[in-house]
Amino acid sequence: MQQLRPTMRPSGWFQVAWSSELPLGGVKPLRYFGQDLVAYRGEDGVVRVLDAYCRHLGGHLGYGGTVAGDCVVCPFHGWRWNGEGRNTHIPYQDRPNTSRQLTAWPVIERDECVFVWHDATGRPPGREVPHIFTEVAEHVRDLPFHPATPRGLVRYDDVTILPQTVAENAADPVHFRFVHETRDIPVALRQGSDEDRWFIQLGFGRRWTAWDPNSHDGDTLSIVQAGIGLSYTALSGHDNTVILLATTPIDDRTSTMFQTVWLERRDGDDEPGVLDRRMRAATAQLKNDIVIWSHQRYEDPPALATVEGQLFGDLRRWCRRWYPITEAHPVPASPAPSGA
Ligand code: FES
Ligand SMILES: [Fe+2]
Repeated sequence: MQQLRPTMRPSGWFQVAWSSELPLGGVKPLRYFGQDLVAYRGEDGVVRVLDAYCRHLGGHLGYGGTVAGDCVVCPFHGWRWNGEGRNTHIPYQDRPNTSRQLTAWPVIERDECVFVWHDATGRPPGREVPHIFTEVAEHVRDLPFHPATPRGLVRYDDVTILPQTVAENAADPVHFRFVHETRDIPVALRQGSDEDRWFIQLGFGRRWTAWDPNSHDGDTLSIVQAGIGLSYTALSGHDNTVILLATTPIDDRTSTMFQTVWLERRDGDDEPGVLDRRMRAATAQLKNDIVIWSHQRYEDPPALATVEGQLFGDLRRWCRRWYPITEAHPVPASPAPSGA
């Protein structure tokens, strides 16, 4: 059974950090999905995410915790917990406590980002997050890119944004004309979806009327929505850029948005100020969306113009699969969206 109305507790993979925030032996407190968590990078280089509170006397592992081998060490009395959440060592007793365990969150570290799997009903992880250079757009596969770290990491904390609002951006070519002041409304060239991903490619500029695989003039924007929380975009044209926009609920009201930007390597990038200037240009537009999204009310069903109905309807139907029925959200709420 699937919940119909979007909530702040969707299932799926969600970004919780950037790789660079967790150096070898690094420990970091996190708060997402209304829960306190700790992330750490073991001496083996692997990132783990656990519930934050030590099962001994409830010390928060993220504040003062340290790393020993593949374990996090509680700052309060030195108990060690491994990546499965098991106690492996009590410094003043000859055997660990095997009766208590911390919840271990499934983790993927990929493309300079750290993701966790969340499912309010405890279902195991679904399909892995996309690889950004091979699974988002054909044209970026063979291009050289700068790392996103450190310049291309932009974070917006405590924004009152429903993650599905950001996902629905993929079905909204019209807003580019008004929010981003493009000359024209972009044209939807291709669109498709499967169980885990919803894809669209938009064409900018008057010459685009339909998808033409042999044409390389005119900018396009490919968007792959992977679950509710991960929006991958690839811009092609005069400035090839790849962006991951990740929206992760903190609690039932607020989210963190992580914007991660990879710029194509180009001649002249090592001149002073050039990369900073390109990055400013690549990240400037999101602020305009955020002002809208953080004050937006979720309309259900929305009053759509005729041309908008098909894309919005398709995306909203696809989104429903990410909302399991839970005790907190027991009743399917609203009718399906309708066009016009
Ligand atoms: S509370 Fe963690 S070791 Fe005591
Ligand atoms: Fe936008």
